[in-house]
Amino acid sequence: MTFIKSTTSIFVASALTLGLTACGDESATSSKTTSAPVQQKLTAEDAKAFIAKAEKTFAEQYEYAAKVAWVSQTFITEDTQYLEAKSSEELKLIGIEFANGAAKFKDLDLDYDTKRKLDMLRLGLTLPAPADAPDLAAELAQIESKLSAIYGSGEAADGKKYDLIKLSRTLSTSDDPEELLNAWVDWRKVSPAMKDKYVRLVEIANQGAQDLGFKDVGAMWRSKYDMDPDAFAAEMDRVWDQVKPLYDALHCHVRAKLNDKYGDEVAPVQGEIPAHLLGNMWAQTWGNVYDLVAPEGGSGIDVTEKLLENDYTPVKMVEQAESFFTSLGFEPLPETFWTRSMFEKPVDHDAVCHASAWDMSETDYRIKMCIQTTGEEFNVIHHELGHNFYQRAYNQVQPLLYRGSANDGFHEAIGDTVALSITPKYLKEIGLIEQEPDASGDLPFLMRMAMDKVAFLPFGLMVDKWRWQVFSGELKPDQYNEGWWKLREQYQGVKAPVLRTENDFDPGAKYHIPANTPYSRYFLAHILQFQFHRELCNIAGETGPLHRCSIYNNKEVGKKLNAMLEMGTSKPWQDALEAMTGSRDMDATAVIDYFAPLKTWLDEQNANRQCGW
Ligand code: ASP
Ligand code: SER
Ligand code: ZN
Repeated sequence: MTFIKSTTSIFVASALTLGLTACGDESATSSKTTSAPVQQKLTAEDAKAFIAKAEKTFAEQYEYAAKVAWVSQTFITEDTQYLEAKSSEELKLIGIEFANGAAKFKDLDLDYDTKRKLDMLRLGLTLPAPADAPDLAAELAQIESKLSAIYGSGEAADGKKYDLIKLSRTLSTSDDPEELLNAWVDWRKVSPAMKDKYVRLVEIANQGAQDLGFKDVGAMWRSKYDMDPDAFAAEMDRVWDQVKPLYDALHCHVRAKLNDKYGDEVAPVQGEIPAHLLGNMWAQTWGNVYDLVAPEGGSGIDVTEKLLENDYTPVKMVEQAESFFTSLGFEPLPETFWTRSMFEKPVDHDAVCHASAWDMSETDYRIKMCIQTTGEEFNVIHHELGHNFYQRAYNQVQPLLYRGSANDGFHEAIGDTVALSITPKYLKEIGLIEQEPDASGDLPFLMRMAMDKVAFLPFGLMVDKWRWQVFSGELKPDQYNEGWWKLREQYQGVKAPVLRTENDFDPGAKYHIPANTPYSRYFLAHILQFQFHRELCNIAGETGPLHRCSIYNNKEVGKKLNAMLEMGTSKPWQDALEAMTGSRDMDATAVIDYFAPLKTWLDEQNANRQCGW
């Protein structure tokens, strides 16, 4: 089961009211979850009662824990961290009870829904703690809360504070290599304080995963995809192989242009690209250095510029994004969305600025962002609203244990799919530009898209490859940083601009590591969104090139999309994919189709270059 507040799954329950025998002794089975060996034979009826108990418990406790988490993330203090750790410890313990309890029914002949819901319970936690060890659950919850606070407040071990938004702005706007390097290095002064805690987190959570019958936490995460965990890893690699030639071509061109701009000293023409030159703190998207690589004769549309020219405030950006979803036939978000969300960085206290979307209850949906007026953030807003509309769609029709996305990649893909329809034609319709460029605008447009969407792919893949290695023990704590950079080099062809050692903890400088948010979902989403887009454009009867198609205003498309969202996790993701696209497999040919004209152009540019690293 995933209770999604965007990037985090939470089991919610309060030991205060339920005690640790949360599974209770009202049904024959549920009290046996962690106690002495089960004596009596479990029946299918027991399984059903167990599920009912779980759904009731979580339903009762969800809103409380969601609100504690909301307060602590939007207002980081010692006290709110304390409360968050406590609440998350309680829900972790109850989650563990239910997960262990669910495992005990595995040999029974059960109906489809009972079986599937038991799986949801068994796999629901992101970081399990060992059963029968409340002290370890408490320690794990405290570590999680502390890691999130370190990242959110940007406070280094020596008490000095670093502002990620400011440093990121330098990364995206400066072309002074020294200034870039300083900003890059500065942000990485925050994460070394996380290292010990992270090592301990891995230890405890691995024990928890083993108690639940998994080899380690990585294996548990890979088991959430309705297929064999190894087959899932192979599937990721298969899809990566489909898009790698496109990435390689982009990398080659960008590296050459950076070399033109900065020279051999700073940006060598061979080998990996130094990570501070790509316009983003993690070199995960490169759109901010678009101007350096733009095809001649067209700069495309700079959405940031247009938003500023048109006096877009954060709220206006959110309203505009919401109106895309309502144009597809979705009901507007409830009034409380507008009064309870956090759209801007608080001026007088720390908050976790990393964007997320939350469902607090069946009627209370919010986003938490520190919105900047940029095209990039305009996309992120669509991304977050995609989560909210997905949450509301399944919350309205599914029982609690099916309230999640087909797989987590689907959750991440919906808002992005919608944002792929932010085409020049759409920008004209909403008055952001006066005239739609002719076909000569296509290459610049595709190049801008590729700098974000294609550049991201290997990063999306390597983050969890690193975590899988960490959880499996393949990487030991004294190899964490080295292992991270090995993968960065291998997959992205990006390298650290200065010497890094094991005193650094560079993975911790990326939100999802201290936040313990699995990352494969973003890789999946970057493939799926193109697959969805191609299909929805098909339904819309659009016959032109994929990158010019916009589904704006199309109610029929909205219906089709909604049908999939409403399924929640009730069916394997392959079924959901098939219902929407007719295919049971992820397929990156939509990415290839979308960028085909750009690939041709890149190949021409690269004809006399030596590509690869
Ligand atoms: N947009 C952010 C990212 O994807 C947060 C989210 O997933 O909602 O990390
Ligand atoms: N939102 C995710 C991130 O920030 C993936 O795009 O990394
Ligand atoms: Zn997301």
